[in-house]
Formats: sequence, structure tokens, C-alpha cells
Amino acid sequence: MTISGTTRLFGVLGSPVGHSLSPAMHNAAFQSRNIDAVYIPLAATELAAAFAGIKALSFSGVSVTVPHKVAILPLLDSIDPVAQKIGAVNTLVFRQRADGRVHCTGVNTDWLGANQALEQVIPLKGASVLLLGAGGAARAVGFGLKEAGAQLLVHNRGEERGRALAAQLECGCLTAGELRGRRADILVNATSVGMTPHADGIPIEPDLLSNFQVVMDIVYAPLRTRLLREAASRGCTVVSGSSMLLYQAMAQWRLWMDAEPPLEAMRAALMAGLE
Ligand code: ATR
Repeated sequence: MTISGTTRLFGVLGSPVGHSLSPAMHNAAFQSRNIDAVYIPLAATELAAAFAGIKALSFSGVSVTVPHKVAILPLLDSIDPVAQKIGAVNTLVFRQRADGRVHCTGVNTDWLGANQALEQVIPLKGASVLLLGAGGAARAVGFGLKEAGAQLLVHNRGEERGRALAAQLECGCLTAGELRGRRADILVNATSVGMTPHADGIPIEPDLLSNFQVVMDIVYAPLRTRLLREAASRGCTVVSGSSMLLYQAMAQWRLWMDAEPPLEAMRAALMAGLE
């Protein structure tokens, strides 16, 4: 890769960003398509100063990660309607206006990634979904599934938080006792259970997994999480968090490049980074 005076700049803004797999995926995509662009880590805790710098330095596109996904909203010129409902963005698209001013739109591709990963194996319109969790990740996935026309139910360990998310999603909320015997087309784990260092955790009793046709985990790991291993052993179709990660990055690339991204180059870079 040769960087020149005309190389377009992209990056991931957050703190920390050292573990991010986005540079590997996006740079592989640029190289595969022979595009004069580079994607770099942008570690920053001072959000307003970092955002002003990115804008002043004519970045073309930026991914936003923890802890800035919500705090960045007031700095943006416009916000995509679904990202507005979710209340968080993970993608910035910069465009130069006719008057020379740079306009920054915030988009959320986390939900697009979750939907597209699921849609590889099951249509979402009319599908029944049990969503586990009520944090920021569950919120993004929940609003996205609603956007796709799925029939949602929420369950969260903390009942009050679960009910609050269900009220926003205008759907039902199940207590732990109500999970037993409950069937749905899809189960989505949007809790942090299964993430290292508690990689042996599972967010639902394994015996209940046969009540679902498809099980998706948003937790990504080099190998399948315990949830996905237990689900696969009961005959469920499983969708991994790495698939969601790949499809959300592809959605970013579409927004930035107005072109179809190279799936296989991005998948290979992601898999190499996960090992
Ligand atoms: P994020 O924004 O990444 O979703 P978060 O806001 O910390 O992170 O939310 C984490 C989610 O995982 C919550 O739904 C949390 O449940 P509580 O609201 O009850 O805390 C869920 N979670 C974390 N650890 C859990 C555990 N051991 N068992 C069940 N749910 C858990």
C-alpha cells in the first residue's frame, strides 16, 4: 500500500481502539479494490477535540466505538432516523457541501449488521424473536429487528431495565420464569454473557435452546461461544457475532464508498484477526 498526498483517510475513534478488528477489515477491502485510502486507529478520550480534528483533517469516514457512540450525537450535523431511535451511532459519513462546508451524518450499522447476518439464514419479516439483554447493544439490535418487521419479546436479568427497553420497543417483556416453554423463530443474545474473561457463561438455560430455530450471539469469539455450541448441538442454526461484525463493517463500506464491498477479503481479514 502506498500512501500519497491524495490518499483518503478513514479510522476508528474510541478508547481503547487497539483491539479493534475494523482497521484489518477496511484496509483489506481498500487493497482488494485498489482504492487509494487508509483506515487508522484514532484513540481519543477528548471527544469534542478529536471530532473537530477529524473534520478539519478532511477524513472521509470514521467508525465510532466505546465510549463515544452516544456522546457524539450532539456534535453531528444530521443523524439517520434509525440511529436517532437507537440513540447511538457507530459510523460517521463526511461529505463536502456545495458551499465548501463539511457535513457529518451519523449512522448506526450495528443493527444493519445484526439483521444482515440473520437474513443469511432466515427472513426477518414476521419472524418471532426473543431478545436477551437491555443494554446499548440490545437496544440497537432491538430497534433494527423492529425495523425489519420482526415480532419481538425482550428478557433481561434486571427486570426493570428489561421492561424499560420493551416499552421503547413497544413489545412484551418476559420474566425468567416465563422463558420456560416459550418458543420463537430466533433467539438473540445481546447481553455481555460469554465475553472473555467469562467465556464459559451462557445467558439462558441450555435445555431451552431447542425452542428456537435460529440462535444468534452478538458476542464474537475466535471459536463458537458456549451458547452457540449448545445451540448447534440441539439442531439450531447458529449465527456468530463475527458475522454481525463483518456485515456491520460491510454496511459502513457501502455508506463510505457507494459501492458493494469485497465480502471475502473482509471476511478473511476478520478471521485472521480473530485467531
Ligand atoms: P452494552 O451497552 O454493551 O449492551 P451494558 O449496557 O453493560 O452493555 O449491558 C450489558 C447487558 O448484559 C445487560 O442487559 C446486562 O443485564 P443487566 O441489565 O441485568 O445488568 C447483561 N448482563 C451482563 N452480565 C450478565 C449476566 N451475568 N447474566 C445475565 N445478563 C447479564
